[in-house]
Amino acid sequence: MDQRGSFTSRIGFILAAAGSAVGLGNIWKFPYETGQNGGAAFLLIYLALTFLFCYPVMVGEISIGRRVGLDAYGSYNKLGGKKWGFLGLYGILCGIMILSFYNVVAGWAFGYFLEISFSDLLTEENYGAFFGRYVVDFWDNLIFSLCFMFITAFIVVKGVQGGIERASKIMMPTLFVILIALIVYSLTLPNAMDGVRFYLLPDFSEITLETLYSGMGQAFFSLSLGMGALITYGSYVNKQQNILKSALTITFLDISVAFLAGLLIFPLVFSQGQSPEQGPALVFVVLPGIFQAMGPVLGKVVGGGFFLLLCFAALTSTISLLEVPVAYMVDQKKVPRKISVWILAALVFILGIPSMLSQGAVDIFSSLSFYNDKSALDFVSEVFSDISLPLGGCLMTIFISRRWNSKNMSEEIANGNPRYKGSFIESYINFTITYVCPVLLGLFSILIIIDKFFGLDKIL
Ligand code: PFF
Repeated sequence: MDQRGSFTSRIGFILAAAGSAVGLGNIWKFPYETGQNGGAAFLLIYLALTFLFCYPVMVGEISIGRRVGLDAYGSYNKLGGKKWGFLGLYGILCGIMILSFYNVVAGWAFGYFLEISFSDLLTEENYGAFFGRYVVDFWDNLIFSLCFMFITAFIVVKGVQGGIERASKIMMPTLFVILIALIVYSLTLPNAMDGVRFYLLPDFSEITLETLYSGMGQAFFSLSLGMGALITYGSYVNKQQNILKSALTITFLDISVAFLAGLLIFPLVFSQGQSPEQGPALVFVVLPGIFQAMGPVLGKVVGGGFFLLLCFAALTSTISLLEVPVAYMVDQKKVPRKISVWILAALVFILGIPSMLSQGAVDIFSSLSFYNDKSALDFVSEVFSDISLPLGGCLMTIFISRRWNSKNMSEEIANGNPRYKGSFIESYINFTITYVCPVLLGLFSILIIIDKFFGLDKIL
């Protein structure tokens, strides 16, 4: 059996990479970050950062992967020598740790989908209070996240074409259909337009330094950048594909889903007179309360639909997070795909247990004294995604400009796009990757580290 495999078509790659990008980051994280950071102003910053800086980083990652045709470690190692291989290992570690907490949140979404759709909970329960009870219940968490990890592993075992590409081709279009149907409904609710105004009319006085680096962290997480996921997916892409166009489509799809998720959630929140600044609980606490208010039948349909959507989005992302270390085991350690997948899935699941127990179930995990009394889930998500992804992006752009050479990158991009060389976009991408990204991403990474560990407001 061919252990490596490749995507069969341009659309297959685009949907798989967009599937990796579109996930909890768009539907769960983006709305609460936007709600906490002032609404429309955050949205604007986010869009600008994505197109100006993240797009070139994405093009860079995909070209590294396609150039070598190996996992993240193998790619850096081959292009830059052993010393740079650590960057691949860094990405693999981030992938494993991000998946460990991501799978817990995906498990919540899965549990909510089942509870809303198939139990009588909507008639009996106050959904707002349900979340608090639900996340401290160890067995619920264990079972739902175990199921989610199992489904993820099951798809990844089937390989790039039969598993990842096939699943993405079905789930991504379905996700769009469910999302649009829910938005149409939410816009018809009373006071929905207050939510639309909060979301779309910017108040520039809301923009602070924190808006900027939170926006960058969110953009990296949402686009799956900075840890080699797109190096890995890029390694399955053939030389005829136009990387620039594919990356642009992936970016558009990712932004569209985040944008649409906001357009769904803020009208719902405002129609119930709720505050948009609820943080991570926004989707799990506020929305179910709203579904309950819709009545038992409609609430079940709309609420079940929403959480099914969240599960689909999360699944195409957990697949890509698991694929990063799996590709490493297959390419570097020559371990058969099937065995790699099950070993890694078990490892990641075990590493996720502290996050699973951190919402009140076990005190030491719920309040880490060395991390400002935040939970283990916050710790893992902030250290391995908010901090490590922009830092990984910074190191990757340093690798391209100082070691691999942007001329080589241009050559790789020109495969499948002969007019690239000498174009404006080539100059823009080279300039951004050589000068802007290393400095800007380095600076933002330092600011985020200071903020998360010491609190920037206490220092400035
Ligand atoms: N982009 C995913 C999301 O928005 O939910 C999360 C993610 C997936 C981050 C894959 C990093 C990654 F490599």
